[in-house]
Amino acid sequence: MPASRLVLAARTEKIAPFQTMEVMKRAIELEVEGRSIIHMSIGEPDFTAPPAVLAALASAMEKGRAQYTPAVGLARLRQAISDHYRTKFAAAVEPERIIVTAGASGALLLTMAALIETGNELLLPDPSYPCNRHFVSAFEGFARLVAVGPLERFQLTEALVREHWSDVTRGVLITTPSNPTGTSIGESELERIIAFCQSRNGTAIVDEIYQGLTYDHAPTTVLRNAGANDPVVVINSFSKYFNMTGWRLGWAVVPKSLVPVFERLSQNLFICASALAQHAALACFEPETIAIYEARRDEFRKRRDYIVPALRALGFSIPLMPDGAYYVYADCSALAADSFAFARDLLENAGVAVAAGRDFGRAEPERWIRLSYATPISKLEEAIRRIGQYLAERRGSEAAA
Ligand SMILES: Cc1ncc(COP(=O)(O)O)c(C=O)c1O
Repeated sequence: MPASRLVLAARTEKIAPFQTMEVMKRAIELEVEGRSIIHMSIGEPDFTAPPAVLAALASAMEKGRAQYTPAVGLARLRQAISDHYRTKFAAAVEPERIIVTAGASGALLLTMAALIETGNELLLPDPSYPCNRHFVSAFEGFARLVAVGPLERFQLTEALVREHWSDVTRGVLITTPSNPTGTSIGESELERIIAFCQSRNGTAIVDEIYQGLTYDHAPTTVLRNAGANDPVVVINSFSKYFNMTGWRLGWAVVPKSLVPVFERLSQNLFICASALAQHAALACFEPETIAIYEARRDEFRKRRDYIVPALRALGFSIPLMPDGAYYVYADCSALAADSFAFARDLLENAGVAVAAGRDFGRAEPERWIRLSYATPISKLEEAIRRIGQYLAERRGSEAAA
């Protein structure tokens, strides 16, 4: 039989590999060869689901609660998330507006399916979470990256949104605290951006996946001030604060008028999020489980307070103290001309896996690396020791040459 040519959709060409996952792949290869690697590339908590969540999973399995759930999620889980907004964030969010999804990724996919048409644009900060660009392009839209820096806390501002808005712009996508920078947007700036979007019939998509992981101020939500009919879609997840990355569970909070749209999309694209994960996630909101999560948050704060000064002492420039998530976006331009090559050298020679800026944007990515401190302090100390030793050896060989 003659070999047939597989014809792919052109959009596949626009989906770049997620380099951080590629780094992880190489790190695992090195580990298989027997090398010791400290993982600071991937954005995944080292903590796993607390005991009550595991017990709830076991009970759900035993009772056979694994059938499809409603496309928008279990009513009890939507209620529990709504209660969580009320008790923890003083935000009134009707359970009917909460759509349970397969992770924040599922929520982002539904949101783009609902809002983006061919040729539409969304404004995103540069740097930002790489997959966001591809969620937009999967629906034939375009993610317009707007360069931001320390001056803007690596977040969009109303002035930048106004400047870059065009006839085809449908809204903004803001992650707060940010991945890769760990910096949050100011509440009033975000409100100004939302008001501007509203004035242009656009939508503000606010990804709060790192909600709860803030260290210098109380955790918050844009939903405290946004009304049920405002053009704001909030994305969230059980992956980060709740330490359940592989369980694939998240949610979106959508304006009332969009609930039937998201329901239809979810019915068709996913049927529902994992039933077992949903039953188990009910235990996330029990007071003892929240106490565990809060203790872990304190641990993340300690790690941040250790790693930032330690990196600065090695010659990295960290212009802003990250106030949330578990990332440090470090300027390595005083140490290396190209952060991609530098990240590769750190992995191959020092056994420390970090993510290079290239993943996160186009505005001077060669200056930056992202380090995830979702790993115990003892390992962070070892990483700092190894990076220090690598830099000293490199200086030594450069001096000898
Ligand atoms: C900003 C941001 N949004 C969405 C996601 C996807 O998360 P999930 O595991 O909930 O799909 C991530 C994962 O790292 C992220 O950093």
